Amino acid sequence: MKFILAESAGFCFGVRRALDLVLAESASKKGGIATYGPLVHNPQVIELLKLREVSCTEDLDQIREGMAVIRTHGAPPEVLDTLRGRGLEVLDATCPKVRAVQNVVSTHAAKGRHIVVFGEKDHPEIAGLVGAAGAHPCAVVLSAAEFDALQLPAETAITLVAQTTANRQQFNEFTKHAKERYPNLDVRQTICAATEKRQEEVLELINERKVQGLIVIGGHNSGNTRRLAGIGESHGLPTWHLETAEELAGLDFKPYGLIGVTAGASTPSWIIDRVMTRLREMEEETTNPLRARFKRFVEALTSMHITTGLAAGFLAYVGAVLMGVGFRLDFFLLVSCYVLSMHVLNRFTESGVDKFRDDPKRLVFYRRYRFGLWALGIGAGVASVIDGYFLGVIPFIFVLVASIIGVLYSVRVVPKGWMGLLGFRRLKDIAASKNFFVASAWALVSIFPLFFVDQTGSAPRVILAFVFLFLVTGIRSVWLDLSDMSSDRLVGRETVPLVLGPERTRRLVQRLIVGLVVGLYLTAVLEWLPSLAYVLATWILLEFLYLEFSKRRFSLPTLTRDMLVDLHFIAAGVVAWLWRAVG
Ligand code: F3S
Repeated sequence: MKFILAESAGFCFGVRRALDLVLAESASKKGGIATYGPLVHNPQVIELLKLREVSCTEDLDQIREGMAVIRTHGAPPEVLDTLRGRGLEVLDATCPKVRAVQNVVSTHAAKGRHIVVFGEKDHPEIAGLVGAAGAHPCAVVLSAAEFDALQLPAETAITLVAQTTANRQQFNEFTKHAKERYPNLDVRQTICAATEKRQEEVLELINERKVQGLIVIGGHNSGNTRRLAGIGESHGLPTWHLETAEELAGLDFKPYGLIGVTAGASTPSWIIDRVMTRLREMEEETTNPLRARFKRFVEALTSMHITTGLAAGFLAYVGAVLMGVGFRLDFFLLVSCYVLSMHVLNRFTESGVDKFRDDPKRLVFYRRYRFGLWALGIGAGVASVIDGYFLGVIPFIFVLVASIIGVLYSVRVVPKGWMGLLGFRRLKDIAASKNFFVASAWALVSIFPLFFVDQTGSAPRVILAFVFLFLVTGIRSVWLDLSDMSSDRLVGRETVPLVLGPERTRRLVQRLIVGLVVGLYLTAVLEWLPSLAYVLATWILLEFLYLEFSKRRFSLPTLTRDMLVDLHFIAAGVVAWLWRAVG
């Protein structure tokens, strides 16, 4: 059995735009945002928005304060007037394509033409379209029979528009029928290209790729997703309409050779990724069970952050070489245990939103081995502090303070009464704090304790080594969040990508990498850092070029991506070791 994913599966332009607008507002505002009706027809996205303090209501009367959001489907003008009349700030996230149809309706209605909308009467988009016609005649039909029942005189000037997510074939048949009866019929092709493209791709999977089954991912309440499933069913294919990867449990695809997979325009990439990851696992479990088992083992190590701890130890070694000081195994353990402990413990203190942006397998792993992982996190943390104690007073204080800050990062430590004064209750509530804290703590613990233990390094080299580690770990942290954001796993306001937005963050990451590369070359030329800096600069430059031009840069499953990032740090440590061994 094999699975093939349709190219344009997932969020359309309008949904992505609406979500970006709302998330940008939720990053700057604290609460007080309500969408009039669900922003998208996907329960997982709605649940996620709730965790971002964006509520959803169908009852206009309930929106009395803060900001009101009009969803992609749009709303009748009187809804906007009512909200503005209450003095509310209105964020109109109506999809520009829906807005264009509303404009057609209002201008043609104003010219005295009778408006006919081909669509589902109870679909929210239709309310906006009918509202755009104002007091002028406007009918909604979904079949030739309903249209005929209107009994309009044959000479009526009619403008026909379609709901943006209507089925193209049905609309064409309907248009043919209407044209035969009404010579003064102006047909506007208002079906959205995004909808059409998804429908055409399903037909292509069926007719050209000859799939033997179809999986459609998306909300059960999403009209465009249901229509995609309808295409499969109407062609006699076994069709599975799933909302999440969990619904794959118990399904057996072995009897089918090739199965097509698509997703509705309101389905986030993170759900598609999860379903595809699970499907590919099912495929691998049948074709190569040994490889599947080895992969599960490495994923378990990554889930436990063992690889991240090792990466930290190896990176600390790079720092030691840059500082020109000796390295010790107990220091390797200190840094590894500290980073491992912080990563594991923070998973337990983070809010519920992480269940959306994290890998489902990691979530299951954390649920299943909860107590063991608590023990691992606490044990590693205690080990790093004890290790610091034996290394000396200063390393001990460094690790202890960094551990306390790390553990309390997601905990409400500021009393409620101080909220007005400070503006936050947790360090995590500070905008973009996560990336800054991760980089600072990681670099501080990796550089300064060793400097005070060894006491042979020069202060300028220590500062340069610290800047190097701070930038490398900071870029890692921001890039991972950016990658999460690009996959529609919604990151929080504690991250740079949500504060700056994806494009500005991408530019920031590019500039930081270029700055890091130039800085490393310069410091090597000036002999402020050893020639290892040339090697590191060239490596980082090559990585950067690969990421810039690689199509897969953001599309890897989370665990694989995290593991690869960890392996790069480990490899940098090996390169530094070889450099020192050869030199
Ligand atoms: Fe807009 Fe088309 Fe999506 S109308 S909301 S881009 S399906």
